Amino acid sequence: MISYKDLGLVNTREMFKKAIEGGYAIPAFNFNNMEQMQAIISACVECSSPVILQVSSGARNYANQTLLRYMAQGAVEFAKEMGKNIPIVLHLDHGNSFELCKSCIDMGFSSVMIDGSHLPYDENVALTKKVVDYAHQFDVTVEGELGVLAGVEDEVSSEVAHYTRPEEVIDFVSKTGVDSLAISIGTSHGANKFKPEQCTRNEDGILVPPPLRFDILAEIEKQIPGFPIVLHGSSSVPQEYVKIINTHGGALKDAVGIPEEELRKAAKSAVCKINIDSDGRLAMTAMVRKIFVDNPAEFDPRKYLGPAREELKKLYMHKCVNVLGSAGTVE
Ligand code: G3H
Ligand code: 13P
Ligand code: ZN
Repeated sequence: MISYKDLGLVNTREMFKKAIEGGYAIPAFNFNNMEQMQAIISACVECSSPVILQVSSGARNYANQTLLRYMAQGAVEFAKEMGKNIPIVLHLDHGNSFELCKSCIDMGFSSVMIDGSHLPYDENVALTKKVVDYAHQFDVTVEGELGVLAGVEDEVSSEVAHYTRPEEVIDFVSKTGVDSLAISIGTSHGANKFKPEQCTRNEDGILVPPPLRFDILAEIEKQIPGFPIVLHGSSSVPQEYVKIINTHGGALKDAVGIPEEELRKAAKSAVCKINIDSDGRLAMTAMVRKIFVDNPAEFDPRKYLGPAREELKKLYMHKCVNVLGSAGTVE
């Protein structure tokens, strides 16, 4: 049993409290490799933002859970070396079983998500409570989910979105004891968040998605005032990256995300954690594709992963400064 506290990591409790009071959201960025971790940490150090490093079960399978844990431990030292002891959380994203959550808690994660959103309500409550009861013994915080996002949630898939039902949230939160709640108000995972027929087109032919359901968010906030809310599927799918990818051999069709202004508005509410993965994937892919086309003789991975890492860092800083509002909140 390894305690996250010995690794220099923190849980989400204190940072969520400050974020709600301060009207901003904590960035939750997914990572699978060293370059993503370096970009996340150097961006958050440079703009003085707390950060949640997220590991999905796909990331665990790809990179190995032990290595990722050591990377998070390394991230704490890396931040200190750069001169800023920012709060860093190591979080399991979309945990789908008690065993997976327990294994992460036992090896040093400071926060876990148990995603029972696809289960019948009572089963979601029971599974979430079981994880909370275990996690809280070690002061590890737990995120639950109510409502189902459209698209693919890691190994949990759903064709259609079921918005969170505000009338269920008090019961869910009190029966399970969760520390935060992921909700469904119209976001979804990946780079194709909406079907073209759900969108309108602006004068440049760019797809404009339907607005998020802020009415449902307001209703949820009324039911559980001040309770930490999480938004998944919050990439904005920057069209400049889509364009670079498509003009350098890629084939992304009808890629569309959540407008940044909507996320900014959400971050000012009780939404205190915003999950972003796809935008980072797009930034890296755009840079790597461009370098391969512009320099076909290049074969040193540092020459394409290095610039991709720089672009990622720029993207993450932009998110903290202009979208989530978390920049400048660490002294
Ligand atoms: O919500 C899903 C995250 O973007 C992680 O994706 O399962 O492909 O690692 P992944
Ligand atoms: P995006 O696919 O919009 O980046 O969402 C990531 C996410 O919700 C991770 O849990
Ligand atoms: Zn998610």
